[in-house]
Amino acid sequence: MPGAFYVTTPIYYPNAPPHIGHAYTTVYADVLARYHRLMGHETFYLTGTDEHGLKLQRAAERAGRHPKELVDEMAGVYKRYWAQLDISYDRFIRTTDPDHEELVKWALEEMRRRGYIYKGRYSGWYCVDCEKFYSEGEYRVVEGRPYCPIHMKPLEWVEEETYYFKLSSFEGSLRRILPERVYPEYYAREILGKIDKEGLRDVSISRPRERVWWGIPIPWDPGHTTYVWFDALLNYLTGAGLLRDRGRFERLWPAAHHVIGKDILWFHTVIWFSMLEALEIPPPRRVVVHGFLVNRGLKMGKSTGNVIMIEDLLGHYKTSDGVRYVLMRVFNLGKDVDVSLELFDSIYNSDLADNLGNLVRRVSTLAIRRLGGRVENRGVDGRLEGAVERALEEYHSSMERLDVSQAIQAIMAALREANAYINETKPWEKSDPTEELYTLLEAIRASANALQVVIPRAAQRTAEALGFKLAPPQPGLGGQEAYTVRDSPILFRKVK
Ligand code: MSP
Repeated sequence: MPGAFYVTTPIYYPNAPPHIGHAYTTVYADVLARYHRLMGHETFYLTGTDEHGLKLQRAAERAGRHPKELVDEMAGVYKRYWAQLDISYDRFIRTTDPDHEELVKWALEEMRRRGYIYKGRYSGWYCVDCEKFYSEGEYRVVEGRPYCPIHMKPLEWVEEETYYFKLSSFEGSLRRILPERVYPEYYAREILGKIDKEGLRDVSISRPRERVWWGIPIPWDPGHTTYVWFDALLNYLTGAGLLRDRGRFERLWPAAHHVIGKDILWFHTVIWFSMLEALEIPPPRRVVVHGFLVNRGLKMGKSTGNVIMIEDLLGHYKTSDGVRYVLMRVFNLGKDVDVSLELFDSIYNSDLADNLGNLVRRVSTLAIRRLGGRVENRGVDGRLEGAVERALEEYHSSMERLDVSQAIQAIMAALREANAYINETKPWEKSDPTEELYTLLEAIRASANALQVVIPRAAQRTAEALGFKLAPPQPGLGGQEAYTVRDSPILFRKVK
């Protein structure tokens, strides 16, 4: 088997249901996973929920329930959303899973044995929504009080005994490895700049049990609970099978791709890479960072009140493919993307309904009317073949660069050429339009093979209607001997 691919999403806090910001990350990782499976790589896709910590403890208290009851219910909610979006994860990990708790305890013991953990006192300003301490200069001051710059809520003053992790030991190696492990690379420069400015201070990795009891106890001192981020980051090792399936871990880990939003970059680079080094495990292949979905200029989020929910889009487009497509079409690793229902509708209508849907409908109708559905290979018309070839090349090179949006646009451009080719060649006027229709069917087949990682249902429906089997997109048209077109589907209905 050529190569392996291990892709992860952040594990989400299950204090609220996911919105399209979470779907943005999850669908993207899904497309990468589907692409690598299609190319024959051993692929493992991990997603899940981050279930411990003060945020969940408080959410449960407010609801008058035990946190475990709450997270059990919410893990089910996440799974249902991901099923509705056809997310093909291999494991849904929960930080309350027994193999994960075992791994966290093992990791803490290992780090302590190697001298990277010590006891001390901590004081600082904490944001429960971020589950994070803020230093002076990072927080905002509103009416003389420190506020979280993200949630714009007052921070809490914390002063207590804690265990520290010796982050300061890892500065040299971080400077070396960050540029080659963070993608796009300028996010690495951003982090290096922050290290230059602020230096690296040791981090607190536990909370006293009387304040935060909902979490994994520090194995040698159960009066302390493991800090939720320390616990959460380790999920990537549990998921790869470090303690339970060493062979799988050895194959997957060098191919690990952590997809994250830019909000959690510091944790996934500075903290995570240092934790790994303390465990003598190499860093992941790449941390793949994307910008935010914003709405009216602000990061989309529950607290901002500008959120578009997954069910809004599912109800609107009626198919998971529509939702997956519009999210991936706007996907951007470098920039925040301002989205609205109007923008999504215009993408859906022009790409899916007018371009792809229309082409499949026209070609299948012509094949049935003019040739009784039977279209043989009597040569491929070079005029369209070149455009499809170029599109496939660009599709693959974009996927290799992890640029899903560009990959999609390359195929859409070829489909537009195909629509123009029908208008030019007018197969309905020809006495025998076999060559034109065969060439068009081949173009559709190549496009469906490429797009199946984004819109799996429509690709399958197209294959059934036109009579071909989905396969990895290969260069070169003319591979299918003949088509038996069965019906002419309306893949996507225009929305208003
Ligand atoms: N539990 C932590 C992650 C631990 S990973 C070891 C966490 N969870 S979260 O529920 O807050 O989800 C954060 C992730 O959701 C972001 O990093 C990002 O991937 C995604 N997004 C949430 N809102 C988003 C937008 N508005 N836009 C794009 N992505 C967004 O942090």
